[in-house]
Amino acid sequence: MTVAPDPAAAPVQPMPDAQTVLSVRHWDDRLFSFRVTRPSSFRFRSGEFVMIGLPGETGKPILRAYSIASPFWDEELEFYSIKVPDGPLTSRLQKIKVGDQVIVRTKPTGTLVIDALLPGKRLWMISTGTGVAPFASLMREPETYEKFDSVILTQTCRLRSELDYGDDLERRLAEDPLVGEDAAVKFRRYATTTRETSDRMGRVTDLIESGKLFADLGVPPLDPAHDRVMICGSMALNLDMKRILEARGFTEGANSKPGEYVVERAFVD
Ligand code: A2P
Repeated sequence: MTVAPDPAAAPVQPMPDAQTVLSVRHWDDRLFSFRVTRPSSFRFRSGEFVMIGLPGETGKPILRAYSIASPFWDEELEFYSIKVPDGPLTSRLQKIKVGDQVIVRTKPTGTLVIDALLPGKRLWMISTGTGVAPFASLMREPETYEKFDSVILTQTCRLRSELDYGDDLERRLAEDPLVGEDAAVKFRRYATTTRETSDRMGRVTDLIESGKLFADLGVPPLDPAHDRVMICGSMALNLDMKRILEARGFTEGANSKPGEYVVERAFVD
């Protein structure tokens, strides 16, 4: 038996590049992460970003650049986002639920990739806030541990609760079947707050300039001969870090010409 289509029913418009939300976790009233299905043909390098979003009211999608927070081998894609109450995308994205659809454009790009760095001994990943997302991918990437003897992730946030996502990543790294053993030996995280008391306080830039970061970690100060640096944070942090690194003789790398440091702006809107 065939059923005639209901002429009153609105036609279902297929959403191009739609992926299904598999889980959502709210970390506090400003931050959330979510996982979506991954198209089977989608390839990316750990550390890259894609455009993701939702259909806008006029039908035109509202898309923003988001770092992929899961590693290249993960069957799902993870994203970590702020919630901006009047942000064109995040005011709506923060309300997504399991089973909803999110647009994920499958053209990955970005410079926070191991290929954009020259070989070195120690990898520094410097972040503020949601800038930790590409490093969430890279810290679970086996190549990170093949290429570097030591991997240090710093994250500076205003409040203690903003470090919860990073705390969780660090905890889960120990159990990671692919990199857990290497990470136990090579990976360290140095998390600080600036506007709320916590175990470690201060901007990472000040801690670099004062030398406290190196003293606390028991490593020599940044040196372009051995250290490689990836930066992902606010515009202000990125500029300050560039200045600090270039004063120490570091040169910026790109996919076409690897260097001693690479930088990208964290998602802000
Ligand atoms: P602070 O509280 O001292 O401004 P934001 O939420 O403004 O993006 O900042 C996130 C974190 O980054 C905050 O802890 C903030 O510290 C810190 N921060 C902002 N600007 C810089 C900078 N130029 N260098 C280092 N850390 C910064």
